[in-house]
Amino acid sequence: FPGIARIPVVVHVVWNSPEQNVSVEQIQSQIDVLNRDFRATNPDVSTVPAPFQPLVADSRVEFFLASVDPNGAPTTGITRTNTATTSFTHDDAVKSAATGGADAWPADRYLNMWVAPLGGGLLGYAQFPGGAAATDGVVITHSGFGTTGTAAPPFHLGRTATHEIGHYLNLFHIWGDDGSGCSGSDEVADTPNQGGANTGVPTFPHVSCTNAPNGDLFVNYMDYVDDPVMVMFTHGQAARMEACLDSTRSPLIS
Ligand code: ARG
Ligand code: ZN
Ligand code: CA
Repeated sequence: FPGIARIPVVVHVVWNSPEQNVSVEQIQSQIDVLNRDFRATNPDVSTVPAPFQPLVADSRVEFFLASVDPNGAPTTGITRTNTATTSFTHDDAVKSAATGGADAWPADRYLNMWVAPLGGGLLGYAQFPGGAAATDGVVITHSGFGTTGTAAPPFHLGRTATHEIGHYLNLFHIWGDDGSGCSGSDEVADTPNQGGANTGVPTFPHVSCTNAPNGDLFVNYMDYVDDPVMVMFTHGQAARMEACLDSTRSPLIS
C-alpha cells in the first residue's frame, strides 16, 4: 500500500465485575496510544538512547473504531458482554460466546480486540497472521488497557496492545524467542541480536550476546519491559508489518 494503512477495530469488552466494563474514554485512550505509537508521534520516543535514535521508524499504520458493523449497520465499534467467567487465559475462550466470551467479527475486515480479565499475570496475547478467523485478533487484560480507568502501573500506557498488534502484524519478540540464547532471531535486520527478554526498567546499555557497546534495544515495543520504557519500532520492523499488510492482511485495509 502506498500511504497510511488505516485499520478498523472492534473492541469486545468482556466483563465480570462492573469496573471491568471499561468506559468509552478508556477505549479511546487505547486507540489514541496506538495512533501515536505506530506513527512514532509518542512524546516519550525522546527517551530512546542517542545511538538508537536513527532506528526509530514511523510504521505508517493507524487505527479507528469501526463505524459499520458486519451487517452494514452503524456501530460504535464496541461490543459489551457480561460473563460469568472471573478470569480468562490464553485458551481463546474469551473469543466465543459459547465459552463465556464474545464472538469475533469477520477477521478479514476488522481487527478484533478483546478486553477481559486475564489471570496468572498475563497482560495479553495475539494471533499471528494466517490463523483461524474465529480466533484472530488480540486480547488485552482490562488492567493493561488504555491509559485511564482500570489501567494500572507499570502497564498503564497502553503498550500491551502496541506489543500484541506487533505480533498480529507478524513481529516476533526482539530476543528471538530462544530463551536467553544468542541463536534465535526476530527475522529483522536492524534490531541487535539480544540474549533474553528484558523486564522492568533496565539501565542503558544492557549488553548481551555480542551487541556491545550499545547492547539490547530494550526500548523496543517487542521486548518485555514496563510500559514507560517501550517506546519504538524500528525501520526493519515497520517493513515487516508493511509486508504483512501488503499480503496476508491486505483485505483489512482495502
Ligand atoms: N504477552 C506479554 C505478557 O503478557 C505482553 C507484554 C506486554 N508488555 C508491556 N509492558 N505492556 O507478558
Ligand atoms: Zn509478545
Ligand atoms: Ca536471543
